[in-house]
Amino acid sequence: MNVGVIGAGYVGLVTAACFANLGNNVVCVDIDKEKINALKRGVIPIYEPGLREMVKDNLRRKKLIFTTNISLAVKKSTVIFIAVGTPPKDNGEADLSYVENVARRIAMEMPSYRLIVEKSTVPVYTGRKIEETLKAHNKRRIQFDVASNPEFLREGQAINDFMNPDRIVIGVRTKKAREILEKLYEKFKTSIIATDIESAELIKHASNSYLATKISFINAISNICEKCGADIVSVAKGMGMDKRIGAGFLNAGVGFGGFCFPKDLEAFIRISEKLGYEFDILRAVKKINDQQKILFVKKIEEALWILNGKTVTVLGLSFKPGTDDIRYAPAIDIINMLKKEGVKIKTFDPKAMVKAKKVLSGVTFCNDAYSAVKNSDCLAIVTEWNEFKNLDLKRVKKLMREPVIVDGRNIYSPDRVKKAGFKYVGMGRKL
Ligand code: UDX
Repeated sequence: MNVGVIGAGYVGLVTAACFANLGNNVVCVDIDKEKINALKRGVIPIYEPGLREMVKDNLRRKKLIFTTNISLAVKKSTVIFIAVGTPPKDNGEADLSYVENVARRIAMEMPSYRLIVEKSTVPVYTGRKIEETLKAHNKRRIQFDVASNPEFLREGQAINDFMNPDRIVIGVRTKKAREILEKLYEKFKTSIIATDIESAELIKHASNSYLATKISFINAISNICEKCGADIVSVAKGMGMDKRIGAGFLNAGVGFGGFCFPKDLEAFIRISEKLGYEFDILRAVKKINDQQKILFVKKIEEALWILNGKTVTVLGLSFKPGTDDIRYAPAIDIINMLKKEGVKIKTFDPKAMVKAKKVLSGVTFCNDAYSAVKNSDCLAIVTEWNEFKNLDLKRVKKLMREPVIVDGRNIYSPDRVKKAGFKYVGMGRKL
């Protein structure tokens, strides 16, 4: 099929590369000339395992074209995915001006029937607004359909998530739109849930908010564990074995970050408000998530007594392992809080240092974990990269000024760390 993807951000790029890899002819558009020029050479602006190879391969096979020319994509493609950014406004609402612009351009450029599919995470009713915009600017009265096909990609495993999703959600109003999307996804061995556009839009928001709720719930339980002497790892394991609960997303820690959960949660709270419903659970989810970072800094303070003048090593800057993304990463807030208290920060991350250097000042960036812990008063684990799990703790102890570990992701067993001679503080761990 001929597929257009508007927006070469995380979602757009993965969508374009995967559809091309499946044999479709894909035109991927972005207004950022520099980005498009780099992509044409196979240079990817993000770190995502497998993506560079896939893009290069499909550029070579001429299945994938990058351009800044939106009319080319609209003219060549029957199905056009809108995957532009929906950044948060000051009040938390999603800013949909990029979506509107794209819809307007598509309306003006489409030569014959087009299926326009919203892929970005958008508030419910965006599909309807896209339809209205297309109608208003479609002077030649060309036929079109709008559909919603939300993505559920996780950074770091986006290609696998795209190719092997748990479900494919399509929200459509016509049989024609449904058939086109079913054909596009026919090679997937996954069930397709076809529904109306509003339900599809809500499935995305509800799923992300539910997962965020699970994380805040387990973080709340971890705080109770600390107060009553229980161990969160055992509690989460015991809960997760109940099939109705499920074992995923029950890791307590410094909370969720990234460009999806915090933004989507905030947007969903605003949407509900606008629809006349106060979504109090989600407000609590956000509050607990904010508190986890403050609690983590307090734990460091309790372990060190006085923060001012101490050196803390923060291991991990990305919002989770397997990505270089630092957007809404807990590490950034934690480092800024510690700096405010007069703490000297030494840090290391296997992938996110380049991006972190752009937003953090007055911090010492080290070449590896061992140089980062040298002469430090406390080792603070913020992202659970595998290489941190496998650190030689004897060596770490020799290098540090004080043997203190505050483990914000519960990557170590308290016994092992204590046996190695450290003072250990986890998140909801029995000590
Ligand atoms: C998420 C959704 O999983 C995905 O479906 C959606 O399309 C985009 O948002 P992503 O942001 O890439 O994906 O990361 P995810 O792996 O879901 O983790 C989000 C955050 O939650 C991370 O900061 C992670 O550290 C945190 N998390 C996750 C926990 O703190 N505990 C857990 O048990 C799981």
